[in-house]
Parts: sequence; C-alpha cells; structure tokens
Amino acid sequence: MNNADAPSRNLNLGIFASGRGSNFQAILDAIRRRELDARVRLLVTNNPEAGAVGIARSCGAALSVLRKGDFGKEDEFAQAMLETLRLNEVDFIALAGYLKMIPVQVITAYRHRILNIHPALLPAFGGKGMYGHHVHEAVLAAGCKVSGATVHMVDEIYDHGPIVAQRCVPVLEGDTPDSLAARILETEHEIYPAALQLFAQGRVAVRDGRAVVACGF
Ligand code: GRF
Repeated sequence: MNNADAPSRNLNLGIFASGRGSNFQAILDAIRRRELDARVRLLVTNNPEAGAVGIARSCGAALSVLRKGDFGKEDEFAQAMLETLRLNEVDFIALAGYLKMIPVQVITAYRHRILNIHPALLPAFGGKGMYGHHVHEAVLAAGCKVSGATVHMVDEIYDHGPIVAQRCVPVLEGDTPDSLAARILETEHEIYPAALQLFAQGRVAVRDGRAVVACGF
C-alpha cells in the first residue's frame, strides 16, 4: 500500500484568521462536501470584528480572541495560545489571512503541522509587508504575466517554510490589484482544502527542508 492509498485520518483543525475568512469558509465547504477529512475545532483571531468570527459561530467552532498586547510578556501570550490549542485538541493549524506572527513556541510545538496560504507564487512577492493589495500591486508593477497562490508550511521566517502546493493564475491586460486578487482568491479556495487533505492522508513528508508529496498534487 502506498501513502496515497493509506486511510486518511480526521484533522482537528485550528484556523487562525484576522479578516473576512473566505478561505476558512472554503475549508468548511470542502469538509461538508467530504473532500477534506477534518473538523474545525477552533478559531484563533486577534480581531473580534473579523468576518471569520461569524463563520466560527455558525459552524460551532470554539473561539479564542488572543492579542499579544493583552499579555504582560510574550511568553504568556504563547502559553495562552498553546493552552487553547491543547484544550480544543487541535492537531493541525491552518492560517487563513492571519496577520500576526505566530509565537516561536507554537511553531516549534506544531512543526510541519502549520500551513499558510499566500496570494502569489513564493518565494517571489513574499515576506514582511507583502500581504493583501501590496502583493498584487508589486506583481503588476513588475509586469508579471502570471501570479498565483502558494500553500506552504510555516516556519520562523515570514512566507518561508516548505512549499506544499502552488497554482498559477494569469495576469491579464488591464488587471487592477482588486481584479487580480479576486481571480487568485478563487484558486486559493481550491488549493487550500486540497493541500490540507494531503496531510489528512499522510501524503506529505519533509526532506532536506522541502515538502515531498506522495503521488503529486
Ligand atoms: C488571502 O488572500 C490569503 O492568501 C492571505 O490573506 C487573504 C485572506 O483572505 N493570506 P480571506 O480572509 O481568507 O478571505
């Protein structure tokens, strides 16, 4: 039996989001369609006004609003995050438009079990400050003919960990940052749940700092 045939297990997901939450919704939709073997246990957010909060309420996930500023020390913030993840039995984390740094203690505890989605083809157009419209403005300014979406594991450096899945999206003449973002977002909603399913099926390994996917993506 190769990895692709192995029985999948349900991921107990923690979603981290700061904004509208369309990727969070796409993950829930894929679970409902039985394309993703997972359940969402918890939403962690720094923003109680985020659209993602309403989505968490409607799917019955627990909600943790955690802001570094509410804690005296950075380590207390990290410990509170680890504690809420533990209490909700989260075994895998999906960042979905989470605009804050993940504490290093959490990255270490969930090594190779945290994914992020980025609206460009990493390692181009990533790093600090490269989020939202900034990414698409930079892509258009460079005259790129393709952009796309990347799902990658999270490590201690912004937009840097092993790449799990990527898909190209054409840049069209006359595109604005908004039109390009909208076209890429449709692709994000497809590849993010599909990438998570690879982990549910145990099909991803890390070798020499690179993600190796059994039987392709
Ligand atoms: C997406 O474009 C994603 O690539 C980036 O943040 C955005 C989040 O959008 N990391 P949404 O909140 O999932 O709609």
